[in-house]
Order: sequence, then structure tokens, then C-alpha cells
Amino acid sequence: MSLNFSRVHELPSDELAVYRRLDPTRLPKHVAIIMDGNGRWAGKRSLKRFLGHQQGAESVQYVVETASRIGLPWLTLYAFSLENNLRRPKLEVSFLMRLLRTYLSNNVQRMNDNNVRIQYIGRTHELEGEVRERMEWAADATKHNTGTVLTLALNYGARSELVDAFRALHREIQAKELRLEDLTEQDIQRHLYTAHMPDPDLLIRTSGEMRVSNYLLWQIAYSEIFVTERLWPDFRGIHMLEAIEDYQRRERRYGGLGDGSESDDVAQLPAKALVPR
Ligand code: FPP
Repeated sequence: MSLNFSRVHELPSDELAVYRRLDPTRLPKHVAIIMDGNGRWAGKRSLKRFLGHQQGAESVQYVVETASRIGLPWLTLYAFSLENNLRRPKLEVSFLMRLLRTYLSNNVQRMNDNNVRIQYIGRTHELEGEVRERMEWAADATKHNTGTVLTLALNYGARSELVDAFRALHREIQAKELRLEDLTEQDIQRHLYTAHMPDPDLLIRTSGEMRVSNYLLWQIAYSEIFVTERLWPDFRGIHMLEAIEDYQRRERRYGGLGDGSESDDVAQLPAKALVPR
């Protein structure tokens, strides 16, 4: 039995006003976010980039709490990519790792108060020991919660996720548990880090960039994409609700025709109309 009751009455009044415009029967099950613009947020204020990340960590907690209040089952945040790890200055990477540890230490109690369970995706085994220990501690401390599952993508890259999946499939084929000619999309899906999760319905990206930056490439095949100019440190729960409102105005077709469209009767078309120009 799901104990994932929504706590909409706990939303602040401005968020409640947006929530009331939503159709509660068509809320997304999974929202994924590319949190971008921490550096620009700091730069605009002549502050060090670190302060942008610190403010970004505050936004994370606001958004998680709104997600839990509306009963969103899955929220997945791109917190640290493989490319961030390889290409950012060492000092910034170690600051981000310290920030993550502090975030976890300071927020596990609030996650428990909000019935939020935390988990991670990515090559997390490559992260340093102290960070991994704190991550495991937070996951363990929240593992019985039945509300929103907060997934942090850490040392994550979608292409390397696919490489990891293909390696696992290769092992299955070698062990004769699977035949290459029988391979299906489901076989690939069950080896992704997100195998136990539904695909995101909605992908939000902040700071206006029109890119998916190696995030959940397989999983976002049919996700609706919402890009906002707002920088991540200025992003709050209300902005996620506005993104969901926009999402609810879209018609999801999954490659089909959608409701209300009638297929042309090919037999009735004049032959000329069938000839490609
Ligand atoms: C992009 O900003 C953001 C990141 C590098 C990752 C997101 C990190 C946080 C929100 C901080 C902490 C997160 C947790 C979970 C504690 P950017 O530096 O690329 O911004 P820019 O493009 O404006 O330079």
C-alpha cells in the first residue's frame, strides 16, 4: 500500500495558488531537473562561484519540500556530472563535495519530516570515501520513508550509464543468460541505474541553455522539456509548479497521433498525393 499522501495544505499560499490551477489527476510521476546557473548567479553579484553553489543547495531543499507536499513520487536532480568531475578546477570539485556532505548532514532530519527517501545514481563508487560514507548514511537514515524519492545524480553521465549497461549485458550474454538476437529495449532498461524508476515525464532545465548535457539520455526519450531563464539559485517550488502547469497544457503523443486526430484513409487519397516530391 502506498503511504504517499499529498500534503498540499502545507504549501505556502503562493504555491497553493498555482497548485489549484493544476489537474491533480495528471501530475507528473517523475520530474528531472538540470540545475544550471549557479556560477552566473554569483557572477551577477560579483560573488565567488562557491557562493552560487551554496545558494543552489538552498534551492534544492525548497524544491524537494514542494515535491513532497504535492506527493510527487520521483524527483531526480543533476547535482554533479562526470564532466564536472573531470573538467572543473580541483578546488571547485572539492567545494562541491564538501557542500554535498554538509547538505546531507543538515537536511536528513528535514527529509525524514517530509517522508523523503534519498538515493543516488552515477559512478558514485569513484567519489571520495568521506562523501560516500555520508551518502550511505543519508540513504540509510531515510530508507523507510514512503514519500518522494529524491535521486541525486552524482558523478553521473548518461553515456557512461549506457556503457555500464552494455557491459552488464555482455556479461549476461557470455554467461548464456541472454542471447544477443533476443535483446530488447527492456534488457537495456533493466541495466540502467534507473531500472526501478519510471522515465521522467518532465525535464526542467534552468538558466536558459537548450541542451540536455548528457543527462538521462535513454530515459528522456518522451519527456516534455521545460527550459526557464531563471538561474538555479533563484528557483523555488513555485517555479516547479509553474513548469508542471506548462506540462499539463501539452499533449503527449509518444510518436502516435494523439487524441482527437483522425488518421487519413490512404485508400481514399488520389494516387498523386502519395507520390513523394
Ligand atoms: C551548475 O552551475 C550546477 C552544478 C555544477 C551542479 C549543481 C550543484 C548544486 C545545485 C549545488 C549543490 C547540490 C547539492 C545536492 C548539495 P554552474 O556552475 O554550471 O553555473 P554556470 O553555468 O552559471 O557557471
